[in-house]
Amino acid sequence: MSDKKSGPPPVYTTSNGCPVRDPNASIRVGQHGPLLLQDHHLIDLLAHFDRERIPERVVHAKGSGAYGHFEVTDDISDLVSSDFLNGVGKKTKTFTRFSTVGGEKGSPDSARDPRGFATKFYTEEGVIDWVYNNTPVFFIRNPSKFPTFIHTQKRNPETNLKDATMFWDFLSRNQESVHQVMQLFSDRGTPASYRNMNGYSGHAYKWTNKKGEWHYVQIHLITDQGIKTLNNEEAGNLTAENPDHAQEDLFEAIAKGDFPSWTVYVQTMTPEQAEKAPFNVFDLTKVWPHKDYPLRRFGKLTLDKNPENYFAEVEQAAFSPAHTVPGFEPSADPVLQSRLFSYSDTHRHRLGVNYQQIPVNCPLKVHNPFQRDGAGVVNGNYGALPNYPTDYSPTTYRTDVQLSERHEKWVGTATNFHWDVTGPEDYVQAGKLWEVFGKSGQQDAFVHNVSVHLQNAKPEVQDRTFDMFTKVSPDLGSRLREATLKLKPRAKAPGFRL
Ligand code: HEM
Repeated sequence: MSDKKSGPPPVYTTSNGCPVRDPNASIRVGQHGPLLLQDHHLIDLLAHFDRERIPERVVHAKGSGAYGHFEVTDDISDLVSSDFLNGVGKKTKTFTRFSTVGGEKGSPDSARDPRGFATKFYTEEGVIDWVYNNTPVFFIRNPSKFPTFIHTQKRNPETNLKDATMFWDFLSRNQESVHQVMQLFSDRGTPASYRNMNGYSGHAYKWTNKKGEWHYVQIHLITDQGIKTLNNEEAGNLTAENPDHAQEDLFEAIAKGDFPSWTVYVQTMTPEQAEKAPFNVFDLTKVWPHKDYPLRRFGKLTLDKNPENYFAEVEQAAFSPAHTVPGFEPSADPVLQSRLFSYSDTHRHRLGVNYQQIPVNCPLKVHNPFQRDGAGVVNGNYGALPNYPTDYSPTTYRTDVQLSERHEKWVGTATNFHWDVTGPEDYVQAGKLWEVFGKSGQQDAFVHNVSVHLQNAKPEVQDRTFDMFTKVSPDLGSRLREATLKLKPRAKAPGFRL
């Protein structure tokens, strides 16, 4: 590797290090004849170019990243034993990637979409990833719906166009989504920048303290820059004027030393409280009211260094909720349980089985001589160490597990899991949000944002969507119907030909 900052410029070579006399030439027979296969420089160059693209992320393909650090600001040792969360003042190096969800890698940053907020913590006990969003709830609570839900947010298989009918058809048939749809179609669905939005774990996780006691927890990262949003038209204009505005904003802020930060809080719930809560603690469509489960501050995340190479560091970053450390566990939330499989699985497809050896993903310390070989080994492959547990080599490894984290006992019969039926309780928190919009002056924006999108859906899908919002609030339902039907549908609305 070359160091561009010191010494004479390096000699240009082929990928095997052979100096090349003329990088811009190809070897040809005479003035007009064919090229020679022995021109390894040209073949090496073209063959590498042909393989430059790796699969983009199936969701969250467009994103921006930065390094930073997390600092513990308040003592929470009574709640959690994880080393990186213990000791006021302790700092841990981090890497964060923000993203939109549905669009392709070149799609605009200003899309109405949830934003991903994923952070890797390089701790002494391994890498833990917080793979969070900027909304505290999600569209579904049954993970088998995730691929179909995502398909409705992508392109119509026939027209290859985004399709309002598909979009609203799915959401109005799966009305557990309504709370998240309320968030998405308020102006918070179009954040002004990645610096001006919060991050939420969404799921319940489990924290265990040194005594082995545990709580369900929700994590909140609250922006120190303040929430700033775009209205529908500002977001639309940015799509044309500067589709990479959020990438530019983050990169430039960090480059000029204006480091963004987030204050980090935890909400806790004991297992006994969870039994009595008016909602299911594993239901990702519900928030934990702050008055019942107050926020407790414990840290600060600051982003202070831009990556030097987007592909190496941002594109190859591989976050997974399964990457965790002692004391910080997943709960039994079915969506979270499915995510524990899906991310590492997609990394093996997208980056290869040895994706953890890529520098941006690599833990500070790692020792697992039972994982050997595979494409792209760059860590020496554990040399001559035995590749199976054996007393012939007792110093190969030791174990260091201080406490058992298995607290739950589940007994039951295997059943078909749906969690599809919605009841009145599924509209309560969405209704409260509608009241909040009333106080914050967001109701008109919400009605406008939905109606300009919904106008392109088929009439029967529009009607089902009006009914869904009527269950949130009759006032909302009627205002939406009126606003949508006032708008002229596009002459050639792309629709599923059913
Ligand atoms: C990215 C699956 C729900 C947050 C991804 C990726 C997959 C995936 C396959 C691409 C990862 C990659 O290629 O590196 C799923 C499944 C879900 C689910 C199967 C539900 C069953 C959620 C939820 C959240 C979330 C509920 C937030 C609370 C993210 C984020 C990323 C992501 C932030 C981008 C990570 C990055 O920046 O590389 N998801 N997801 N996902 N997901 Fe999910």
